[in-house]
Amino acid sequence: MKNIDSIGHVTGKSVYLDDIPTLRGTLHASILGSTVASGKIVRFDTSKALELEGVERIITYNDITGENQIGGIIEDEPLFADHEVHFHGQPIAIAVATSEFIARKAVSLIEVEYEEHTPVVNPREAQQKGLLLIPPRTFKMGSVDETWAKCKYIFEGSVEMGGQEHLYIETQGSYAYPIENGYIKVHSSTQGPTAVQKTISRVLGIPMHLIEVDVVRLGGGFGGKEDQASGFAAMAALAAHILQKPVKLVLPRHDDMRMTGKRHPYSADFRIGLSADYKILAYQTTLYQNGGAAADLSPAIMERTLFHSTGAYFIPNTQVTVYSCKTNLPPNTAFRGFGGPQGMFVIESAIAKAANELGVPTTSIQEANLLKEKDEFQYGQIAENVNIGECFRTASDKYELKKLQSDIDNFNSQNKYQKRGLALMPLCFGISFTNTSMNQARALVHIYQDGSVSVSTGVIEMGQGVNTKLAQIASQMLGIGIDKVKIHSTNTSRVANTSPTAASSGADLNGNALVIALKALIARLKDVAAEITGSKAEQIEFVNEEVTANGKSTGLSWKKLVQTAHFKRVCLTENGHYATPTIFFDKTKEKGHPFAYHVYGTAAIAVTVDCIRGTYVIDDVLIIHDFGNSINPTIDLGQVEGAVVQGIGWATLEELAYNEKGKLLSNSLSTYKVPDIYFAPKTLKCEALNTKGPELAVFKSKAVGEPPFMYGIAAYFAIQNAIKSFNANYKPDFDLPMTPEKVLMRLYGG
Ligand code: MTE
Ligand code: MOS
Repeated sequence: MKNIDSIGHVTGKSVYLDDIPTLRGTLHASILGSTVASGKIVRFDTSKALELEGVERIITYNDITGENQIGGIIEDEPLFADHEVHFHGQPIAIAVATSEFIARKAVSLIEVEYEEHTPVVNPREAQQKGLLLIPPRTFKMGSVDETWAKCKYIFEGSVEMGGQEHLYIETQGSYAYPIENGYIKVHSSTQGPTAVQKTISRVLGIPMHLIEVDVVRLGGGFGGKEDQASGFAAMAALAAHILQKPVKLVLPRHDDMRMTGKRHPYSADFRIGLSADYKILAYQTTLYQNGGAAADLSPAIMERTLFHSTGAYFIPNTQVTVYSCKTNLPPNTAFRGFGGPQGMFVIESAIAKAANELGVPTTSIQEANLLKEKDEFQYGQIAENVNIGECFRTASDKYELKKLQSDIDNFNSQNKYQKRGLALMPLCFGISFTNTSMNQARALVHIYQDGSVSVSTGVIEMGQGVNTKLAQIASQMLGIGIDKVKIHSTNTSRVANTSPTAASSGADLNGNALVIALKALIARLKDVAAEITGSKAEQIEFVNEEVTANGKSTGLSWKKLVQTAHFKRVCLTENGHYATPTIFFDKTKEKGHPFAYHVYGTAAIAVTVDCIRGTYVIDDVLIIHDFGNSINPTIDLGQVEGAVVQGIGWATLEELAYNEKGKLLSNSLSTYKVPDIYFAPKTLKCEALNTKGPELAVFKSKAVGEPPFMYGIAAYFAIQNAIKSFNANYKPDFDLPMTPEKVLMRLYGG
């Protein structure tokens, strides 16, 4: 089945925040951001801006009716800077005016003088200075200290990883308007409507029940709107609250790029110890997370880095520490993979380093250490239904990777200035919010008198196709056409206290809540049907909008059944509540069973490097992925394709550049390069590993949103392998992204 949004999207009829018709008298806001990364505000003069015709108000921290605080996990982030600024682009004020143009002009007329301080942009420097967002955390298993002596080989190294701009097509934005008696309605491009509601409640100083947040869909979020939408929504809501007028705030791309946090850059050191037969016996790593100027989601992201620091491998002795470092960058935030990619890149670097030093193929070390059934993760969970070995070997067989490697070797021996490279990336990604209490969701279902069905849940549609999956679930379970099911906007007045749509668990959590609501409705309707048809409830089924008993038609239509149920005063509304069973985590011991299940797969990526220019082409991406029993293979394949290309972008082209003063230099699409259609892999094959799928996945269809992102890591090592065959003096290093400039220097460097 196709995505129910596809026609709306290609005809431009789908409604995004900026398409919502505005009310008469709507005002527009624009943000004044700091032009220094660290300093004190010594002069602030709005007089010229206020003289401008059409300017209604300049709003600063002084005007906040509640608290100047938007920190979600840790209360360390003001909505508007008061006296100090901690990152370039940090919001100081908004100008509210009759048009967006005037609002922007007003911002440019506000005069600000700073006493500039030297910013810290490097996480290691921050850690040395004791600038941490939260205390460090360590995961360990066995004892590395007792194991080093038993290792035949030990290798050490350092790793650098850059951040990544989300580049959702729709920028951050919000539209807020007062309704009556202090009630305010807010449209926000957010992954977390409840977070928006809570933040507004705090900033405005009004209770949550006076705030309604509504989201139809996002033009992409990728994690960037899990937490960071809240501040922008609070600005629009605050202005609407103060002025008692509708206020719209949509960020221009340039503001969005410089003001919002991104994927965390990390820096890391590793030590890896192997036995004579290449079993990894011990692995120790310390990671420095570049958190930016406030905690945002960094503590949770750091946790997922810890969970995924051993990748798809079983390592009996580990010790992994992460420092969440406070720097003068915009607060970095969630991005597809949520710290997982960074943890995995380090273990893959350690393995690549070992392979290089030992002169063996990386794949031989990878394969020798893949997780097996009942292996223990360093966080205490026992691995179940593990099929990473099968994925790895199936990829090798199905895509004839041995032959591909020898073709590549032949090619390389025959071509001087073109070199090819191949690398594999085995994947193991845990599904569930690592914060156990967030693993809950609700679904509100109404069956109307004509038999049509309305579904509201806490999930946000952001392009991942979750609404289509929900509609399929309702249609399948009720035996009615998909045209009879409407998935409504996500609204805090209909479904409350929602977790953000994140951690790839939107479909699982909200889908399972929907299943619970539907089961209750079905049970009630079966009783009614049994009564009407004189059969037993267990014999009743709903098929093609008809009621059957014992598999035979009863002549009773779905519509008639619903009408009769209503006349009999049977409730046709149900609220389903789901909380993932079996999961828990004890932070004092750093052990538990945090994930409902894991997603496995393997990707092989082959590239060709132009050894004169340093440029490269991604030739083949060949994937074996465990989807479980996919509820919608087309949508799931789309998720794999999008995620892989985004992952390759992170590993290769996408380079965030800041100057020494902490100003983002790559602040537009002319300087920040992302994969385009020409750069996309020439072939991308993805085959499903046939598995039953876990009970805890909705309809046994595994979560798919984030995991394939990490396949992109293979592109880094494929390019590295190509460079090795050109330049024998090149000592493989680990400094992601592998941009063409870096390739060129490594092709000719010593
Ligand atoms: N796909 C599209 N098209 N747009 C997005 O913004 N976000 C990704 C992924 N796929 C995203 C996407 C991220 S970061 C997550 S966590 C999941 O979708 C969230 O949705 P799910 O839980 O329904 O998989
Ligand atoms: Mo996704 S990074 O969990 O929003």
